[in-house]
Amino acid sequence: MLLPHESTHQAAQHPARAGRLRRPLTRRVVPYLGLTLSDDDSRDMDPRTQVRDSYNRIAAAYLSSRRRDSPDVALLDDLVVRLPPRARVLDAGCGAGVPIAQQLATRASVVGVDFAEVQLGLAKHHVPTGVWVCADLVALPFADASFDAVCSYYAIIHIPREQHASVLNGVARVLRPRGLALLCLGAVDLPAWTEQYHNAPMYWSHYDAATSISLVKAAGLEIVWDRWVAEGTGGHLFVLAQRLSGRGDR
Ligand SMILES: C[S@@+](CC[C@H](N)C(=O)[O-])C[C@H]1O[C@@H](n2cnc3c(N)ncnc32)[C@H](O)[C@@H]1O
Repeated sequence: MLLPHESTHQAAQHPARAGRLRRPLTRRVVPYLGLTLSDDDSRDMDPRTQVRDSYNRIAAAYLSSRRRDSPDVALLDDLVVRLPPRARVLDAGCGAGVPIAQQLATRASVVGVDFAEVQLGLAKHHVPTGVWVCADLVALPFADASFDAVCSYYAIIHIPREQHASVLNGVARVLRPRGLALLCLGAVDLPAWTEQYHNAPMYWSHYDAATSISLVKAAGLEIVWDRWVAEGTGGHLFVLAQRLSGRGDR
């Protein structure tokens, strides 16, 4: 039987990351910033600090575990074939730049943005032709209509979901009219979740697929396709979308 402070939700692993829990955490609902956090060493941190600090700590481990030939990476081809010559592409939440920015850089000028400095240091090393910017995806520091495409793999799912609409609005804003966005978004309802990931406390938050797609549309992006990409016993939603010619054309 569940006690009032427990939730059924916390009995399960993060659906997209099932099987990756490194050590059991003592679960307890902690009302903090309106989120439900687990009772581990991360409970006093805000999600942004937790995600940034943890990716700084686990940058090398994450890079060695990052698959280069998985179905998610193959989706990139569908974006690349649609790019104009000399395209300028933003990799949002670029991490170490491998393999996404690295592959994009063979066909386009790549700008990578991430708030974890250690990740950006690795990206500079692995993709020397890229331009690397340390900033938060919630407030992209780029001019309107400055990119032909924006690509974002496994980053938006680490941002509190109440901010996903503004992140997607920012993506649409920095895209030129008819520019493309290839985005990894949540596929299941997950208000807030923390667990150990590469031995560091990590945070995820996202909506179900239908809500994620409706937020993309509300930002002024037209869906080209959406696909579920399985990972373990869970998976992620990938969306290829195109900015409407004027963002008022919704
Ligand atoms: C799972 S890694 C993905 C890295 C890379 N895109 C890939 O496909 O391997 C997530 C990255 O997103 C970054 N990130 C998460 N939230 C962010 C935010 N609000 N602003 C900037 N970067 C963020 C993290 O620092 C981390 O480098």
